[in-house]
Amino acid sequence: MTARSVGLPSTVRGDGLPERVTIWEVGARDGLQNESSVVDVAVKLEFLDRLADAGLSVLEATSFVHPKWVPQLADAEQLLAGLKQREGVSYPVLVPNERGLDRALAAGVRHIAIFGSATETFANKNLNRTLDEQFAMFEPVVSRARTEGLDVRAYVSMCFGDPWEGHVEPAQVVSVGTRLLDMGCSQLSLGDTIGVATPGQVEAVIGGFPTVDNLAVHFHDTYGQALSNTLAALRCGVTTVDSSAGGLGGCPYAESATGNLATEDLVWMLDGLGIQHGVNLDALVATSAWMAERLGRPSPSRVVRALAG
Ligand code: HMG
Ligand code: MG
Repeated sequence: MTARSVGLPSTVRGDGLPERVTIWEVGARDGLQNESSVVDVAVKLEFLDRLADAGLSVLEATSFVHPKWVPQLADAEQLLAGLKQREGVSYPVLVPNERGLDRALAAGVRHIAIFGSATETFANKNLNRTLDEQFAMFEPVVSRARTEGLDVRAYVSMCFGDPWEGHVEPAQVVSVGTRLLDMGCSQLSLGDTIGVATPGQVEAVIGGFPTVDNLAVHFHDTYGQALSNTLAALRCGVTTVDSSAGGLGGCPYAESATGNLATEDLVWMLDGLGIQHGVNLDALVATSAWMAERLGRPSPSRVVRALAG
């Protein structure tokens, strides 16, 4: 790391904001699933270890999906076998169906996430199912996982716009999300898969749910709105925010999706607002700079670029 002019933002508490936010780090899954090359499992393990060292307590590790659909994560079993579990750190994985659940259980996973779509087209492209069929696929996954004592999160993708269908009605997001929560999921993450949301829309979608207590937000940064959208969600009372170290990310089945909100950019804003998060920014930046070297290109995160020199 080289010298930098400003290492920390000034802190000014905003009104009506949470005291603490849980950062749900998705770099190892959402980030690496979209790399053109397959990252070696040893590098993935070191990445996860360094992220845990930096203070992140929820590290989405990989996906138990079909290896032909996402070859970048075909090493899920190897990854789990090599993972050093730590006290106080959770390593959720994506699971779309019962085959994925069998694999996850065999690997000793305790926390899973199913991932639904708010739109018909993306359900088809990402899951090879119709919108209705996706629920039939998820139901036995959630019920078996709960019987096994696993924690289950649900994602809804395309909550704020879809590259094939265009505008997505908030009521449609609420309807899909409510069905997933009603299956027994403990949390619902609202995904802006292609990064088109704007803050007013975020308020409208969140405001359609009866409570924010079980909601999380998952913004991609395609149009540079991810941080503004996050602030809007925090003002609505959301306290779990998904982000990816260094801004890695995308979705292989949604071409216009670019990286997630960078965890460093999120941490900088949370520090400035006096919101606790438990992450050491220097250690995180060093990890993303290290990962950028492994991937052979600079991190898109503005904070990583400003601090790593
Ligand atoms: P399918 O082809 O319809 O599967 O794919 P199927 O049920 O017809 O089974 C066909 C064969 O695949 C069978 O094998 C199954 O055993 C096997 P055969 O009997 O023919 O030998 N199979 C599996 N093998 C390993 N693991 C599995 C599995 N399932 C079936 N889990 C499927 C359906 C859902 C599996 C496929 O569409 C898939 O894997 N999709 C995953 C796509 C994906 O991972 N996308 C990225 C994650 S979502 C995302 O990034 C968005 C998010 O970040 C939020 C946001 O940004 O909005 C979460
Ligand atoms: Mg995503």
